[in-house]
Amino acid sequence: MADKWWKDSVVYQIYPRSFMDSDGDGIGDIPGILSKLDYLKRLGVDVIWLCPVYESPNDDNGYDISDYRSILSEFGTIADWEELLAQIHARGMKLIMDLVVNHSSDEHAWFVESRKSKDNPYRDYYIWRPGADGGEPNDWGSFFSGSAWQYDERTEEYFLHLFSKKQPDLNWENPKLRQDVYDMMAWWLDKGIDGFRMDVINLISKNPALPRVEQGEGWRFGGEHFMNGPRVHEYLQEMNREVLSKYDIMTVGETIGVTPEDAALYVGEERNELNMVFHFELMDVDSGPHGKWDLKPWDLRDIKRIIAKWQTGLEGKGWNSLYLNNHDQPRMLSRFGDDRTYRKESGKMLATLLHTLQGTPYIYQGEELGMTNVRFASIESYKDIETLNMFAEQLAAGRDEADIMNAIYAKGRDNGRTPMQWDGSEHAGFTTGTPWIAVNPNYPDINAEQAVNDPDSIFHYYRQLIALRREHDVTGYSGFRLIGEEDERVFAYVRSRGEESLLVVLNFFGDQAEFRLPEEIGFSRAERLIGNYDPPANLRRALLRPYEAQVYRLFA
Ligand code: NOJ
Repeated sequence: MADKWWKDSVVYQIYPRSFMDSDGDGIGDIPGILSKLDYLKRLGVDVIWLCPVYESPNDDNGYDISDYRSILSEFGTIADWEELLAQIHARGMKLIMDLVVNHSSDEHAWFVESRKSKDNPYRDYYIWRPGADGGEPNDWGSFFSGSAWQYDERTEEYFLHLFSKKQPDLNWENPKLRQDVYDMMAWWLDKGIDGFRMDVINLISKNPALPRVEQGEGWRFGGEHFMNGPRVHEYLQEMNREVLSKYDIMTVGETIGVTPEDAALYVGEERNELNMVFHFELMDVDSGPHGKWDLKPWDLRDIKRIIAKWQTGLEGKGWNSLYLNNHDQPRMLSRFGDDRTYRKESGKMLATLLHTLQGTPYIYQGEELGMTNVRFASIESYKDIETLNMFAEQLAAGRDEADIMNAIYAKGRDNGRTPMQWDGSEHAGFTTGTPWIAVNPNYPDINAEQAVNDPDSIFHYYRQLIALRREHDVTGYSGFRLIGEEDERVFAYVRSRGEESLLVVLNFFGDQAEFRLPEEIGFSRAERLIGNYDPPANLRRALLRPYEAQVYRLFA
């Protein structure tokens, strides 16, 4: 497969609201990010993905954009942003921006026009329908609870919003809308950015018939009618032709409900669409039949099967993205590791997994410190629209409040949105004011200052992993073979490059675990590359320690 800079890169995701506040208003901002670039350089990351910093009424923390070409004043000015780009480039790093074009804010000028009248030139920038049988046009539910349709009195029609009612979906069937989006993308690219992360990009083409999911009462997930819709590849190929192909950039699409077969259509190197996608299969591994708030313990065998499926599914076809958390997910350490007794060990073990697979690793802010989930005593402390809507809906439906809170503790998006923990001072050094969302009370023990000063910290382990990817060309290995597929406790695999292979052995639990290296894998000339403990005396028959991770280079 082609050699590209983004394959050798490690990406760091910044959620600006919670990263660093420079002016004491309790909200992270661009000058705050500027003040921490040397920290990121020290970590060794290559690319920064900045979540939305555009003008927004903040119904969904910036994913509801009211002006695609201006910076939210809480975050700074366009001059601040230009300085940020220049300083990132001066340090040899790159910047990718969030592109949110499945929907806009209802306060965007296009929507303000669109809702004025049925014959307004912007009417068809959005998806409007008359009601059916005295109610909504169909039974699709919003990702943020309730119907995906909102009635608008002025023109007596409904508009579609797959997310909040302040996030109307854009109508990609309209070529004028598409051209406006491409012009806006080129405007940012001409400023010198290095690519885009594209928000829910596989939802942009809806089945134009907008069919009901079922007959009867209630709101339903209509995913089959808007995920990977009929014209999505046509649109992305057009976008690629008109804009993306003209720049040396990277693109990663957030894609809900894609399989490796679907993904190959988005990222296949001959397809001229995107470079990578974020899939959700691992993020659904602990969800019951009723979705993410229906908690179910994960099973390591499922995690292994999913990773193996994606590693082999895209082999020779396209590139993977590797992540275990982001601003929409709980902290990976609390979810897949142990955020108390073995915080360091499990944080390093999970990092080892992410940095030794085929694909580009994405580090979410604070992951490199081993930041954890938070448990606020009351719903009053939570800010996320998805969480608040779900709480109200499920309470009204009779679900026990403690039960709902437990679901929020496990899965709520605010777990990943508490402020970055910089040091042990008040509010973790994030702000001198009152933070927009409370800091996780564990900041005196878990913070960047402490991690940077401790040579054995998760932070320094990430530095080593990032350096290792470069020195040993980890991206150059191909193939993926599980060892002990049915083992419920140990995740082990081999990848190869000519005569050489990479062997990764991970104990996913806090108890000791037996590991046997199969005879056919030659181990006589093994070189240990990295691990979170000293290497075991004999890996052929080892008793792995809690959350032990070891990586070896083997020679045939
Ligand atoms: C995915 C984003 O990551 C999430 O934060 C947002 O709420 C939805 N898309 C809608 O834009």
